[in-house]
Amino acid sequence: MAQRPKQEFRQRELEILKARVSQVEVTRLYDRLAGVYDLWSHLTEAKARRRSLELADVQDGQQVLEVAVGTGMAFVEMVKNNPHGRNVGIDISEGMLEKARRRLREAGCEHYELSVGSALAIQADDHSFDVLLNNYMFDLLEEHDWPMVLKEFHRVLKPGGKLVVVSMTFGEKPGSGFYQRLYQLAPLLMGGCRAVRLSGPLAQFGFVVKVREYVQQLFFPSGVILAIKSDIQPMF
Ligand SMILES: C[S@@+](CC[C@H](N)C(=O)[O-])C[C@H]1O[C@@H](n2cnc3c(N)ncnc32)[C@H](O)[C@@H]1O
Repeated sequence: MAQRPKQEFRQRELEILKARVSQVEVTRLYDRLAGVYDLWSHLTEAKARRRSLELADVQDGQQVLEVAVGTGMAFVEMVKNNPHGRNVGIDISEGMLEKARRRLREAGCEHYELSVGSALAIQADDHSFDVLLNNYMFDLLEEHDWPMVLKEFHRVLKPGGKLVVVSMTFGEKPGSGFYQRLYQLAPLLMGGCRAVRLSGPLAQFGFVVKVREYVQQLFFPSGVILAIKSDIQPMF
């Protein structure tokens, strides 16, 4: 009995918090953050991004989509690996896309399409991609938007297609709760990112989770997931 308050406190610590930055604000925020985003990302997200690229394992000739492509740090690597395939990147922030276009130009890449687009309504045919990469976006979205996004991911992936998702997650090591506390105090300072858990929703909405790894960098906790589109049509 004496344990209960502590357990309840722990329980609350593990709750997925409400998204406190709306999608309209997110667009403006990332337009403004585009200039400094890479520095933050190198310090806290680079390890998880590398792992997401390993799991995506893009092969030349594949049809590849990155949703929330940001400044193109992962996208450029996929495009380099896929000169004879199709590489599509979308994001709701024109400012981030501008940086991505510059990065791709400077890397000498030509074989790609980058455009403004939302995960909630992807402008692509059904069953058109072999691989879909999505890094650090679910942690910005309201939970009630997740089913719609997963429905879109499921729709555009080919049968057996590969989904790799990275997000901020709940810390599992000492010090790793810092960023979640920072979000509670000042969500804009965290770029609107809070800890989420995605394995359950992925399984619920038509994916088979094959790999779930915890990656921590500078105390920042990330969850990296590889999932495969299942044959069973989920009920949305
Ligand atoms: C934290 S950044 C991550 C960028 C990139 N994926 C990376 O890992 O470097 C979040 C990105 O998600 C984009 N974003 C947020 N909501 C989105 C949505 N509904 N559809 C597409 N992009 C979205 C933002 O504009 C921003 O570029």
